Amino acid sequence: MGYNLTWKIIKEHLVEGDMIPGAEIGIRIDQTLTQDSTGTMAYLQLEAMEIDRVKTKKSVAYIDHNMLQQGFENADDHKYIQTVAHKHGVYFSRPGNGICHQVHLERFGVPGETLLGSDSHTPTGGGIGMLAIGAGGLDVAVAMGGGTYYITMPKVVNVKLTGKLRPFVTAKDIILEVLRVMSVKGGVGKVIEYTGEGVATLSVPERATITNMGAELGATTSVFQSDDVTKAFLEAQDRVDQWQPLQADEDAAYDESIEIDLSQLEPLVAQPHSPDNVEKVSNVKDLKVHQVCIGSCTNSSYLDMMKVAKILKGNVVHPDVSLVIAPGSKQVLNMLAANGALADMIAAGARILESGCGPCIGMGQAPATDAVTLRTFNRNFKGRCGTGSAGAYLLSPETAAVSALTGKLTNPMTCEADIDVVMPEKFFINDNMVVAPAEDGSQVEVVKGPNIKPFPLNEALQDHVAGKVLIVVEDNITTDHIMPSNAKLLPFRSNIPHLANFCLTPCDEDFPSRAKENKGGFILGGDNYGQGSSREHAALVPLYLGVKAVLTKSFARIHKANLVNSGILPLTFENSGDYDHISLDDELVMDHLLEQVKTGKVKVLNKTKDVTYDMSIDLSDKELKIILEGGKINFIKNA
Ligand code: F3S
Repeated sequence: MGYNLTWKIIKEHLVEGDMIPGAEIGIRIDQTLTQDSTGTMAYLQLEAMEIDRVKTKKSVAYIDHNMLQQGFENADDHKYIQTVAHKHGVYFSRPGNGICHQVHLERFGVPGETLLGSDSHTPTGGGIGMLAIGAGGLDVAVAMGGGTYYITMPKVVNVKLTGKLRPFVTAKDIILEVLRVMSVKGGVGKVIEYTGEGVATLSVPERATITNMGAELGATTSVFQSDDVTKAFLEAQDRVDQWQPLQADEDAAYDESIEIDLSQLEPLVAQPHSPDNVEKVSNVKDLKVHQVCIGSCTNSSYLDMMKVAKILKGNVVHPDVSLVIAPGSKQVLNMLAANGALADMIAAGARILESGCGPCIGMGQAPATDAVTLRTFNRNFKGRCGTGSAGAYLLSPETAAVSALTGKLTNPMTCEADIDVVMPEKFFINDNMVVAPAEDGSQVEVVKGPNIKPFPLNEALQDHVAGKVLIVVEDNITTDHIMPSNAKLLPFRSNIPHLANFCLTPCDEDFPSRAKENKGGFILGGDNYGQGSSREHAALVPLYLGVKAVLTKSFARIHKANLVNSGILPLTFENSGDYDHISLDDELVMDHLLEQVKTGKVKVLNKTKDVTYDMSIDLSDKELKIILEGGKINFIKNA
């Protein structure tokens, strides 16, 4: 039996483990990317590990998320990232150069290489044939230092594309169809590999739209072959020397298979509030639209923008609609400006934003209360757009542009515009907003403005740990409860001391001051503690506040891993009823910890109530070493 493409790339990069689905494997990372909102922490971690120069083939730091300035905080972050990148061997993509995934595809992506990015939509790189995976900042920092990246060996799903899309039916409709079939949980533990004769009909940016939203399936990543289409794209980017052909063997095996006939698809829309709540546009009747946003890392390529410009040309945006367009990169914006398409957009009444994420994270252009917003983006969870009561619909640029003209959700197949666009033989190449790293970084000064605060580091595990219960919380506490992330707090992603004032305040607003007064202690949680996003700050901020252990009925998987990485003990009750007998301010003591953690069992004495609890600590061999060293950074430094 032959290999599928995913297996081929993993095999080429395998450092540790056996390629058995479900088993832990370690792979070598060729490239990394960071964006600003996760990047500052990743570079603080890189510095804390005392890594002088990155060891990857290429690492790039992008500024694309927090570009709107209200105070000095974002600008401080940008300056820090620019200087730390320059010193440590990382390319720096300046604010305005574009969204990380779009620019990376254009200027850096290489078929067959591995890419680890501190952004969940890093799988966009699968469109050019990379094995591109999103991860936390610390994992990316470790990879920059040449460290192995550990994942669970995924299952591989074959999505076979047959036929050819009809006009006004798009790559976005393909991935919405996959989401409809598989759901937002359907990709967990899997790589989605696209095959079939339909693949050759899709350009690299179209493939990237599909792999980008593979993140919404929960997939490890998604991948396309590298073929003549890929070669032509790289040729047009003046990078054909980086091309290599790659595809699955004819007799490759897959764990699951789905077939989609592209000729049967029609325009689709993901309705509020989930990317898999998919319906045919033609079935959604009389939906009045207030805002239309075109752009994001999903749909802001040159081809997307040209089609939008052709639909808008000579028309006027409906008076009740605010149309905002953010081309994905400086390259795209520059080409639109040069060929007149930008003028067509402006003339029609579009508001042009800089090349960045912007409205996608509610950064500017939040819709009005109760408004309907149509977005070419990838997420429509409640509140993601910046307005909790708004309804966000995800769709293609073509559907978005046609609807912006009519003022209601409209099937673009009713549009008569000629939207044929051919892929240019040469893109406009101008990398003057990418700053190469210094040859010798030793003399480069890293600038840390007042918004850049040192990264909290733990100490090696002590044999005797004691303290008070600082907070008691119920079941299903999310990382949003532990460390809220809203537009007001976003600029403080590199300022843990400031964030600490908001830790767990949705549950108990006195927690930060109590933790500070007591110089740390313990958190008592219920079932599924730490569910939600992979936010590392939900472990780093408690670490800063001196939290030594979290005692729960159970943990969400990623948060537990983040606690281990911070050197905080994740303990679970053997008898979950013990949870009910512990109160705020109870004094807890753990002795002989260095021996106890090795057995996977820990006895916790409640001095206040004079009772001992049996607790478990479930750690892999590697995690045990990390806990003993006081966190992953110490573990790497001392290796
Ligand atoms: Fe940016 Fe939104 Fe993509 S925040 S990276 S455009 S998902």
